[in-house]
Amino acid sequence: VTYDLWADAERALAIGDGGRARYQKLASFIHEAVRSGLLRPGDQLPTVRELAARLGVSITTVVSAYSALREDGAVQGEVGRGTFVRGAEPAQRPDAPVTLAPTGAPATWRRRALANVEHRLTRAHPDAVDLMRGSSNSDYLPLPALKRAWTSVARELTADDIQYPISTDPEPELVAQLLARFEGDGIPVDEGDLMVGSSTVQFLSLVTELLRRDRPADWPLTVAVEEPGYQAAMDVLERFGCGLIGMATDEHGVLPSHLRAALEAGATLAVLTPRAANPAGTTWSAERLRELADVVASHPDVLVLEDDYFADGAVSRPGSLLSDQRVAHRIVHVRSFAKVIAPDLRVAAAAVRATLHSALAQVKYLTEGWTSRTSQRVLARVLASGETTDLLGRARAIFADRRAVAEGLLAEGLHAVGGSVQHAHDGLYTWISLPPGSDASIVAEHVARGGYLVAPGEPFFIRPGAGRFLRLNAGSASADEIAAASKAIVQAATGADSRMGSRLTP
Ligand SMILES: Cc1ncc(COP(=O)(O)O)c(C=O)c1O
Repeated sequence: VTYDLWADAERALAIGDGGRARYQKLASFIHEAVRSGLLRPGDQLPTVRELAARLGVSITTVVSAYSALREDGAVQGEVGRGTFVRGAEPAQRPDAPVTLAPTGAPATWRRRALANVEHRLTRAHPDAVDLMRGSSNSDYLPLPALKRAWTSVARELTADDIQYPISTDPEPELVAQLLARFEGDGIPVDEGDLMVGSSTVQFLSLVTELLRRDRPADWPLTVAVEEPGYQAAMDVLERFGCGLIGMATDEHGVLPSHLRAALEAGATLAVLTPRAANPAGTTWSAERLRELADVVASHPDVLVLEDDYFADGAVSRPGSLLSDQRVAHRIVHVRSFAKVIAPDLRVAAAAVRATLHSALAQVKYLTEGWTSRTSQRVLARVLASGETTDLLGRARAIFADRRAVAEGLLAEGLHAVGGSVQHAHDGLYTWISLPPGSDASIVAEHVARGGYLVAPGEPFFIRPGAGRFLRLNAGSASADEIAAASKAIVQAATGADSRMGSRLTP
């Protein structure tokens, strides 16, 4: 297990939060670890002395934390044996296809794990090329077009524009851009289907909130997610208290058999990425879309959130379940502009039909009102600009080229030693399975010493412990840099470098 719970605890204690005592912070941290399944019933906690030394806190702090946890019933002390996590085993569904996380947990270990590795590696290797972040390189975000759009929108701003709106419908300027894009992607969307919000994550939260209100009997929800998959979506769902079922993917996206098994195991919501999936770059084929539609059609209560987060940076056109009449009324198709225009704009669009549209619009209105019309107009003008079209065209070609460079070198180098690289049809990422026995964090450390930062893949799974995967953001550097980084990964993973060999289990 590369995720180090107590290292995380140390950082949690270092964060100031309104003067809570250290022992209270430690107790809440352990509580959260138990609720999220990082610590399981029966697990033994370190002794007071060990933990105090590990965290650099006083013995009194640990004694007080353990005693608060005992009073809460989260742990129990057994004389002469130690302190153990209490509680029932989380409910397991034997028919679940891959992994089932326990329900009922505020858990953000994935975000923390990613942030921690990034922090540690960037601090130790400040000059290394960053291929670990999730976002696009700023060179491919349309900054000049954005500045011009803000200026022109600001110039036209009227007093009414900054008031409470009469209607929360999307801005007409943006509607025109969105409809053209959906049409270009072969996704049937009418003006009345459109909703505008701030982000994919917001729409995911709104759908979850809607199901919480409308289907109390299904609460806490079980949600089917791709595994490996988007870590922020898993974090958000777990924070809501949802249980997660992982579905494996191949180069064409989620396996239909895994979607079926997840729905049969009780999932009420499935989150699917049609193209350029994070982290594995998988993209639906026409056949996969049909197969997935068949599965969803046979489960009439299930909702699907389609996460089309990379749409305008993508080369593929996989379409949407919205094209299938049997299931179209149960799809929330989200198109985010965070990755390809600017994360900070905070504008995303969704296409949702009839009844689901009004229900979702109501939840949105009640939770946040509306989405800034000024931001919507800025996005519309950036999308309308020819400069943006050119930039995205160049970016798409570069991303494809860099993925091919990485994939070629990694496949060749890793195959002989039992590793592999997932073929990606689209997107920024290259997803690497290191040879059995490898430790991705050691490989990442070594590659960082060689000048490149790559992300250990552990946070893209439901549970910690997946220690032999790496995600490389191939879209964010030059071809030479991507080639050098790929070679450094191969070298570290094959143990050809003597400094590594001794630390890698063959
Ligand atoms: C799979 C996936 N979905 C969505 C997003 C963007 O989310 P948002 O629109 O919430 O910023 C990202 C960004 O990294 C992502 O990787």
